[in-house]
Amino acid sequence: MTDSTTETGAYDASSINLQEIHDFLVSIAHAAGQMITTARPSNSRTGSKTNAADLVTETDRAVEKMVSERIQERYPDYQFMGEETYKPGDTLTPSPTFIVDPIDGTTNFVHTFPYACISLGFTINLIPTIGVIYNPFTNQLFTGIKGQGSYLTSPLHDRERLPLKHLEPFYDENGAGGLSNCLVIGEWGSDRSGNDYDIKVKTFRKLCADKKDGGAMVHSIRSLGSAALNFCGVAAGWADVYWEGGCWAWDVCAGWVVLKEAGGEIVDANPGMWKAKIDGRRYLAVRGGEGWEAVVKEFWGCVEGELKVGME
Ligand code: IPD
Repeated sequence: MTDSTTETGAYDASSINLQEIHDFLVSIAHAAGQMITTARPSNSRTGSKTNAADLVTETDRAVEKMVSERIQERYPDYQFMGEETYKPGDTLTPSPTFIVDPIDGTTNFVHTFPYACISLGFTINLIPTIGVIYNPFTNQLFTGIKGQGSYLTSPLHDRERLPLKHLEPFYDENGAGGLSNCLVIGEWGSDRSGNDYDIKVKTFRKLCADKKDGGAMVHSIRSLGSAALNFCGVAAGWADVYWEGGCWAWDVCAGWVVLKEAGGEIVDANPGMWKAKIDGRRYLAVRGGEGWEAVVKEFWGCVEGELKVGME
C-alpha cells in the first residue's frame, strides 16, 4: 500500500482538488482551440492509421504534445493516456489519469465540417471524474465534475446547467412513445468490414424502418463524427440516444462525465449488458428521464447481433 492507496487497493482521492484540475483543463482547452482553428488542414498533411478512413493530422499530434507537456509539468505524478501516443497494451489503472483526445472528429476537421473538439477527461479509480470538451469552431464549452453537475458555456449559453431542457418521460400515460419518439445518434466508425460493420448497418436499418416492416421507426438517425460531442448532445437533451461500437476511452471519458452529471446513463452497446466500461469500446448513452431503462431494452431489441469490438 502506498501513501495514496487505501486498504482495498483503491486510490485515495480525498486530497485531489478537482476544481483546480477542471480550471486547468479549461485553460488547456482554450489554448488547444486556438491551435485547431488556426491550423489549415489539408490532405497533404493528413495521414491514416488503421485504414484509409482512420485519419490523423499534424495538428492532432501537435495539440496532444502541447497538452501532455502542460499536464506533465503541472501534475507529474499522474498518468496520461492520449489518442496519438497510445500503444496497444497500454491499460488504464486506478491512479489519477488524464485521458485526452486532441481532436475528436478528425475527419470533420480535415473537411472543415465544424463539429470537432478537444476532449479532456480525468479518471480516479477508473471512474470518469472531470470532463472538459471544447468545440472551438462554435465556441461551445461543455464541462462537468462528478457530483457537481455539468454545464454549457457558449455564445448562446451563459454557463447553463445541463440538460438545457426539461427531461420529459420517454413514454406517455398510455405507454406510447419510447424509442419511436427518439432522435438517435449512431456512428459508422472507420472499420467498414466484418461482423461489427454488418451489425451496424442492419441495426440502423431496423431502427429507422417503419413499424409495419418490423422497425422501431425512430424520428431519425444522426451521424455527426465526434463521440465526445455526441455525448454532450445527449447531455444537453438535443438527442435522446447515442449508440457506438469501436471508439476508445479518449473519445468518451470527458463526455461520460458531462452526460452522467446531466442525469444520463451509459450502458453497453450489446443487449443485456447494463454495465459499460470506460475502455470497453461499446456504449449506449441515453438521456435522463423516466422510462430510460425501457428505452434501453427497446434499443437492444433492435441490435441485430453482438458487436465483437472490445472483446478481443
Ligand atoms: C472518432 C469519432 C467518431 C467515432 C470514431 C472515433 P477521432 O474519433 O469520435 O465519432 O465514431 O470511432 O474514432 O478519430 O476523430 O478522434
